[in-house]
Amino acid sequence: METDVNWTGTGIDLDRPNAARMYDYYLGGAFNFAADRDLAEQAVQVMPWMREAVAANRSFLARAVRHCVAHGIRQFLDLGSGIPTVGNVHEIAQAADPSCRVAYVDNEAVAVAHSSQLLATDPQTTITRADLRDPARVLAAPTVRELIDFSEPVAVLAVAVLHFVPEAGRPEEILADYRRAMAPGSRFVLSHVTGDHDPEQAEAAARVYQRADTPVLPRSRERLAAMLAGFTLVPPGLVDATEWHSTPAAGAEHVGFYAAVAVVE
Ligand SMILES: C[S@@+](CC[C@H](N)C(=O)[O-])C[C@H]1O[C@@H](n2cnc3c(N)ncnc32)[C@H](O)[C@@H]1O
Repeated sequence: METDVNWTGTGIDLDRPNAARMYDYYLGGAFNFAADRDLAEQAVQVMPWMREAVAANRSFLARAVRHCVAHGIRQFLDLGSGIPTVGNVHEIAQAADPSCRVAYVDNEAVAVAHSSQLLATDPQTTITRADLRDPARVLAAPTVRELIDFSEPVAVLAVAVLHFVPEAGRPEEILADYRRAMAPGSRFVLSHVTGDHDPEQAEAAARVYQRADTPVLPRSRERLAAMLAGFTLVPPGLVDATEWHSTPAAGAEHVGFYAAVAVVE
């Protein structure tokens, strides 16, 4: 694991907004630059409930991690883990069972540098800088292998990240590669941006993200269900993130994220 690194990481174009750092800004974090904040504010202009949406996604993430621990899972592979913020996966999992191990994966320099600093003293977590679209590389990475035993059930998380994978990136094939590596009883955790409830707004937000180095592709419920075809969804299935093992306040159901947890049988 990298240690003793500055949180800004290396090789960052400060003028090029990035979704990881924009997301950190929505969450009130300090690991973002002026270009990230400017574009994030433009996204908030077209989608005023952006911060609520991101908070709802984090809340789903926490519920899903606790669900996995409650179902006996003690190892987590978090793809697109992001810049560490309140309620990181290892904190939630280890609060439920201190033996939980978490391998984080992200391809963004700040997320990796800050994760390295935060995790340097925790032997049950690692951070790997890798592109989730290269499952062979992720699954073979020594920093993943030292914590994750793929002969045992594992939770693989792709939370708020697959909308950065365009159709040309063949998301089904990526998911199938991860699924083949997962032992029976493993769980796959997904959340994903959608425009189903407000297509115009989602389109406008996606246009804003075109100016980042990480364009976003909202997907429909139907498309996401097709992507998850090889998995068995646990109840209540693929639903609004606010509705997954939770009862949202009336009128606050649709935050623009779908969510699901699936089992590998
Ligand atoms: C919106 S954040 C989500 C963070 C966290 N999963 C959550 O839900 O709170 C998406 C993260 O995925 C990362 N990411 C985007 N595309 C990626 C890729 N192809 N491989 C690895 N990480 C990626 C970004 O750098 C960013 O940190």
